[in-house]
Amino acid sequence: MAERKQWKWADDPSLNKMEFTKLEKDGLDVIETIVNTYSKEGFQSIESSDMDRFKWAGVYQQRPKDGHFMMRVRIPGGILNSEQARVLAKIAEDYGRDLVDVTTRQAVQFHWLTVESLADIFDRLASVGLSSFEACGDCPRQIMGNPLAGIDPHEVLDTRPLVAELEKFFLMNREFSNLPRKYKISISANVHNAAHAQINDLAFTPAKKTIAGEEVIGFHVWVGGGLSAKPHLAKKLDVFCRPEEVIKVAEGVTTLFRDFGYRQKRTHARLKFLVADWGAEKFKDELINLVGELETQGEDLLKGWNGGYFYGIHEQQQAGLYYAGLSVPVGRMNAGELVELAHLADEYGDGTIGTCNTQNVLIRNIPQDKVAAFQAEPLIVNRFKLTPNTFVGYAVSCTGTEYCNLAIVETKERMRSLALYLDDTVTLDTPLRIHMIGCPNSCGQRQIADIGLQGALVKTSAGMVEAFDIHVGGTLEEAQFNRKLNARITVDKLGPFLAQLITLYKEDRSEGEQYWRYVERVGLEKIQSQVDSILQTA
Ligand code: HEM
Ligand code: SF4
Repeated sequence: MAERKQWKWADDPSLNKMEFTKLEKDGLDVIETIVNTYSKEGFQSIESSDMDRFKWAGVYQQRPKDGHFMMRVRIPGGILNSEQARVLAKIAEDYGRDLVDVTTRQAVQFHWLTVESLADIFDRLASVGLSSFEACGDCPRQIMGNPLAGIDPHEVLDTRPLVAELEKFFLMNREFSNLPRKYKISISANVHNAAHAQINDLAFTPAKKTIAGEEVIGFHVWVGGGLSAKPHLAKKLDVFCRPEEVIKVAEGVTTLFRDFGYRQKRTHARLKFLVADWGAEKFKDELINLVGELETQGEDLLKGWNGGYFYGIHEQQQAGLYYAGLSVPVGRMNAGELVELAHLADEYGDGTIGTCNTQNVLIRNIPQDKVAAFQAEPLIVNRFKLTPNTFVGYAVSCTGTEYCNLAIVETKERMRSLALYLDDTVTLDTPLRIHMIGCPNSCGQRQIADIGLQGALVKTSAGMVEAFDIHVGGTLEEAQFNRKLNARITVDKLGPFLAQLITLYKEDRSEGEQYWRYVERVGLEKIQSQVDSILQTA
């Protein structure tokens, strides 16, 4: 076991319980215990304090806590290769009941794993340079990026080397394995904000600045974003960061979080709370105290937001090469489909696959003369479509009661069938992003959706019934979270209710106007009156 660190907060008696657990034994030390003990002696041998530490191995107990686990695997920047995809598929097939989920932060999740399988899974992942370590827990998580990095006509810099450096710097780094809470980094040089900067703890977005007569492409730095029950949009610091300064700045921000972040209440521990209290100005000053002078802000190169969607066949930076953005409904596939995707990536592309924060995938580097054959592949025609229907294509869902211990209602299958229903019922020629979550933790990022559905229970004469609260108007374009309507809709009425609400928008909107823009223009009161009239006639 590694030498125990003397953290500066160690003697604070007001720390929360988890903080004492982390001081007793670092989260990362559980990996060794899993490999040497628990995977041999089984579920019953797991000590309860170590069960909390399992997250540092990227493993979480799944509902109903009967000895099965969920595992999250890091896909740095959302790019993997076909060999890695095949290993992931085989793990799902051998141990995970054939289930692979792509998550809203571009990771991959398995379910149904037993503790006995974990040592073998860690080995298999390591054999292809993948890891589940620190994919959960109070540490730097999966690094979110632009899944088109290196080929994207809308990027100003290839961020792949930076993602790799950040991953190498943070993964298994014991200086940062005991943060007050989870910590999420995003880096992208795509001008359409492909990596959802404003909802990460630390984000780098494209910028340029003339320094000593020379134009430098680099980044602006955002801190303190995050969702959950108290969502915050990240604040932009008045700094310009050269590409070679990214690690230094990331180390500095993470050190501030580690040493000054709050450790009294877990619900008040994310970096966003420190940033809200300090403000961007003080945060910048403290950062500069730590890492030295930084240039002040340059010119922002961000132009709007693509929502994280890349559907269809598109030209790359490289003439004659194309990428294909594919739809994976609610991010769920089976092992065979992932193997087939890996095969198509080899056959038509350069073997790389992108995972998108919209729970979708893409294939990179397809030569022009292969595009037609690619489009005719059965997996593309029947399953991972290039042009999905509106609602199936823009539906996101968290895990829900199927596997999640925190869930209040079922989500994944419900969102899948709801999207199908809406596609059958309403014809709409613009995307309408609907995100469904099963509890306030917001894994499915409902706050940034055009329509965000959050699970709740209502008491009826027939007992407790599953229902959803409705939130409208979220976007990261002119970043704002959606707002709650006064309407808790029971699940039996949800489809017809949404169909009517969307039809009212469709009839009233100006041409091509997106839902969030419509909400912005007509105002929340008008949407509430639409809701009230639907409910009166229901
Ligand atoms: C066993 C299932 C899961 C559990 C127990 C779980 C737990 C949590 C918790 C407790 C939070 C809130 C953390 C906070 O307060 O900061 C959270 C947030 C989040 N989780 Fe999950 N999660 C689960 C599955 C998933 C899945 C399947 C996804 C991806 C589809 C996901 C991605 C996220 C994301 C993106 C957030 C947003 C947090 C933020 O930005 O603040 N989680 N999760
Ligand atoms: S939002 Fe809630 S219900 Fe959904 S996966 Fe996250 S913790 Fe579970």
